[in-house]
Amino acid sequence: MIKDVPQAFNNIKATTFSLTSPQFLHNPYPFYDQLRTTNPITRLTLLKYSGWYVTGYDEAVAILKDTRFKSRIPLPERSKKYQDLKKVQNNMLLFKNPPDHMRFRLLVSKGFTPQTVGKYRPYIEETVHELLDAVQKHKKMDVVADFAFPLASLIIAKVLGVPAQDRYQFREWTISLIQTIDITRTRKNLANGNETTVRLLDYFKVLIENRKKHPQDDLISTLIKEEQQGDKLSDDEILSTCILLVIAGHETTVNLISNSMLALLHHPEQLMVLKDNPDYVQTAVEEFLRYESPTQMTARVASEDIEINKTMIKKGEQVYILLGAANRDPNKFTKPNQLNITRNPNPHLAFGYGNHFCLGSALARLEAEIAIRILLQRIPNIELRTSDVQWRKLIGFRSLKELLITFNKK
Ligand code: HEM
Repeated sequence: MIKDVPQAFNNIKATTFSLTSPQFLHNPYPFYDQLRTTNPITRLTLLKYSGWYVTGYDEAVAILKDTRFKSRIPLPERSKKYQDLKKVQNNMLLFKNPPDHMRFRLLVSKGFTPQTVGKYRPYIEETVHELLDAVQKHKKMDVVADFAFPLASLIIAKVLGVPAQDRYQFREWTISLIQTIDITRTRKNLANGNETTVRLLDYFKVLIENRKKHPQDDLISTLIKEEQQGDKLSDDEILSTCILLVIAGHETTVNLISNSMLALLHHPEQLMVLKDNPDYVQTAVEEFLRYESPTQMTARVASEDIEINKTMIKKGEQVYILLGAANRDPNKFTKPNQLNITRNPNPHLAFGYGNHFCLGSALARLEAEIAIRILLQRIPNIELRTSDVQWRKLIGFRSLKELLITFNKK
């Protein structure tokens, strides 16, 4: 039998919950709990986007592993506007489907083997120490601007092979492009994102040409030379991959590190446990990923009529999977709204699930583990400078505007 969608929820409109209000941005989870309690797959319109919103863990997994639910670019296919942005998105791994997706993913994954990721450990450690050296005497910092952002951008610049001095543009680029894939986006955001894309294309075209002539030990050179059964990435695919990695590999990692620190500061007893037991850092990072998932939402479209948990999703309907909500499903996690840094097992969906499972998960985990371990080792008596933390106006990403802290006071 197909479940009826409760009338009350059928009628939910964005305005009812004011999805961009500070209250919602501060804590979206009660809203997600309410949706899940009514139906873990709920049909509604959030902002302008109508479709099935998925808040249940099992339902999220079922959809993410079912390749009949296709990944699709966030822009309307028919739209003639924002051509550059659209062309780049069309060539991104994230929005490809079988069989092309597997070919593409195999080629890109050569840059993310455990050996490749592991070799960045000394550079990450050295960078974390340098960033902390720079703030230690001030006894205060903005974790986002002074620590997480420079760390994540220096690392992704190193991985890709972007000269370190150019990484300052990353913040502007990622903020602009993240806004184009979030459901809060406006026309202005899209126009701005298209302009950013043109600048990024110009930037990476030059860098790719340079690496063709002078290969180095970096991801761009790997992508250029990588060949699989006579198949290679096209120039457009390499360009889109560079742009995807600047966004995917940067913004989310900044958010993981900043959100982790905020979660610890809001839970002083957990902070003490981690300080006393630095070896818990691995389970702690998994818990931060679950508790305040940097990527909160991903989307699919049904390629045929598909029944999921007795709900019929019709061909062509949009499906929005709220990963942050699935990660707090009480049917999967005991006391899901509690932060427990020793939680194990912790099968969260923060990196997605199935075909599109995050390629950079090992790198993101390594960066976060090193950053949090060294920060807690070196910086005593950390305190929040304000009780009023501000989140950026995004639904699909959990992203702090800033995180001001003081330390060493006693
Ligand atoms: C905390 C940090 C990160 C989070 C939370 C995260 C999250 C995700 C999620 C949820 C997906 C799947 C999206 C979907 O199924 O639609 C994904 C895919 C992807 N991520 Fe990440 N990511 C992070 C860091 C990184 C890093 C550091 C890189 C690379 C340097 C990266 C590269 C990618 C790529 C290339 C894909 C697409 C894979 C595919 O389509 O086959 N991510 N990520």
